[in-house]
Amino acid sequence: MDHLFSPLKIKNIEFKNRIVVSPMCEYSSTDGFANNWHLVHLGSRAVGGAALIITEATAVSPEGRISPADLGIWKDEHIDKLKEITTFIEEQGAVAGVQLAHAGRKASHAEPWNGGKQIPTTAENGWQSVAPSPVAFTDAEEAPLEMDKAAIEKVKSDFKAATIRAIAAGFKVVELHGAHGYLINEFLSPMSNHRTDEYGGSFENRIRFLVEIVETVNEVWPKDYPLFVRISASEWTEGGWSIDDSVKLAKVLKDKGVDLIDCSSGGNVAGARIEVKPGYQVPFAQEVKKQTGMLTGAVGLITEPSQANEIVQNGQADMVLLAREFLRDPNFPLRAAHALEHDVKWPEQYERAKW
Ligand SMILES: Cc1cc2nc3c(=O)[nH]c(=O)nc-3n(C[C@H](O)[C@H](O)[C@H](O)COP(=O)(O)O)c2cc1C
Repeated sequence: MDHLFSPLKIKNIEFKNRIVVSPMCEYSSTDGFANNWHLVHLGSRAVGGAALIITEATAVSPEGRISPADLGIWKDEHIDKLKEITTFIEEQGAVAGVQLAHAGRKASHAEPWNGGKQIPTTAENGWQSVAPSPVAFTDAEEAPLEMDKAAIEKVKSDFKAATIRAIAAGFKVVELHGAHGYLINEFLSPMSNHRTDEYGGSFENRIRFLVEIVETVNEVWPKDYPLFVRISASEWTEGGWSIDDSVKLAKVLKDKGVDLIDCSSGGNVAGARIEVKPGYQVPFAQEVKKQTGMLTGAVGLITEPSQANEIVQNGQADMVLLAREFLRDPNFPLRAAHALEHDVKWPEQYERAKW
């Protein structure tokens, strides 16, 4: 029976256990560049024993950033520092992944600690956001510009160029950010996509943008490297995107060569009532796995070693992604190994502290 410390091989990439650092925006970049904060933030979690460390939402274009301080991968100059980070992660026996993202109508916002509000298009550090339809996220916000065909093609080629840079930067996993109400999610959901062309209306039309991005990325992403997609498996809204839609989507993505569905939820409908409790999104990962036979990732209020272990042991998901618990404890995997009585290799430098 698999458990939290069972290795996992996806395509040609080996993961030493099932614990993943979930993407977390650091809002600490200037002009999209990674810096020493990212090196230490991501690197210390590799030291702490995670199998896979996924960067924060990494913008494929400047206008695809949530805030002016987002990490980016839209120009070749971004590659060098990212390469330093992936090299360090690999030296710790971990795998480096990048979450490629476009914020859509949620672009041009202040960092959370600066209030998190939309920065108006006319402000010096603001820009015009884009989306499938000119529907604002909340009444308090400016509406995005509806994307025409040329804009759709531009984003697809931005994802492709970003993937080529991700390879050069040494990433071995790409995760496409299709969750939390950002651009891809906005196309998927009937709540935010009111288009009448081939990218809107029916389920097949609403998933077209994501499917075409997957096809475009796969033209350049090595066949032996894993491709993940993060989705909001439910938007917790009557008439909105549902877990049944997620299962249908996963079946299509499986045929397109996607390896793992990372099942988050929410973020596209302001004020949706989400039943937040420990492991609240695990049933989504379980359902997608059961209905499609795909690998899935579970995320959301997973904080305890035994809880994380049971998710894998019970076959509810293949990987567990932790975000906030990793901020409290970068060494969560080392602690979990001790709690679950698995003898894992510690960094030599830290062996004197081994439990
Ligand atoms: C500081 C912070 C930044 C986040 N940034 C991202 C992000 O860039 N991309 C993403 O998909 N999710 C992001 N999330 C969501 C997490 O990846 C995760 O799905 C969520 O926090 C639930 O997991 P947790 O209960 O373990 O924190 C962020 C969460 C936090 C706390």
